[in-house]
Amino acid sequence: MEQFDNWHEFWNNFLQKRYGKEEVQTEEDLFFQVARTVNRKPVSQEVFDNIIKQIYSDLDFKQDDILVDFCCGNGLFTYELKNNVKQIIGIDFAQNIIDTANKIKSAPNITYVLGSVTEYMKTFKETWPGAIPTKYLMNDSLAYFSASDLKDLLFYIKSVSKEFKFLCRGVPNEKLKWNYYDTPERKEFYHNLLAKGDLTNDGLGSWWNPLEIEAISENLGIHCFVRNQELPVSNYRMDIIFSNK
Ligand SMILES: C[S@@+](CC[C@H](N)C(=O)[O-])C[C@H]1O[C@@H](n2cnc3c(N)ncnc32)[C@H](O)[C@@H]1O
Repeated sequence: MEQFDNWHEFWNNFLQKRYGKEEVQTEEDLFFQVARTVNRKPVSQEVFDNIIKQIYSDLDFKQDDILVDFCCGNGLFTYELKNNVKQIIGIDFAQNIIDTANKIKSAPNITYVLGSVTEYMKTFKETWPGAIPTKYLMNDSLAYFSASDLKDLLFYIKSVSKEFKFLCRGVPNEKLKWNYYDTPERKEFYHNLLAKGDLTNDGLGSWWNPLEIEAISENLGIHCFVRNQELPVSNYRMDIIFSNK
């Protein structure tokens, strides 16, 4: 699918446009603000706990790890990881979302910064002299990036961290698309989106082909492991673990 290129505006105005709310007031609003919902309801506690457990297991945190959380949103998940690492740097480009993170999900070892992740990583060494991240996370956000963004991001990570693990979770998998559009109505909805030229894909973003991701990391000499998610989390998204070879 062709790329939508104004995700910044989309996310900056998401809570207001979709839910008519100026700011987060309740626990539920935290989920609405970053679209962590199913059928317009916050994901269940079971799914939330499952995601946290999987992040812990995939990233195998050590107490001296520095973690960078790309597209951290309002810190809904970031905050849950603070006890097992030394430091977390969360990056997100939506001002109101970062403001919520600083207001509601702050902790002494978390710094939330406003920025576009590829741009931010380009100058990471100068911004954080002496800090070398060992772990990276991107939760449910690669759908808002292009292949060339991913190339740049992996390149910058590799130049900042000799040793790293980068868990890129919840990437819509092109090969599992029909698990998502799984009824005649949902298929029609999808075809209508295409016909209308809705490049946001109703906010879901781009479907990714796992082969393309593997090719990008192979070209950069980065190891990559792809695993499809399972229900109750999802049956149409995949997780990718990138690491130095
Ligand atoms: C679906 S939300 C996920 C938020 C968080 N990772 C979570 O799982 O709750 C997507 C987030 O990505 C952020 N985002 C999208 N593209 C970005 C970019 N290029 N740089 C920084 N943040 C970005 C949006 O502002 C939004 O907060």
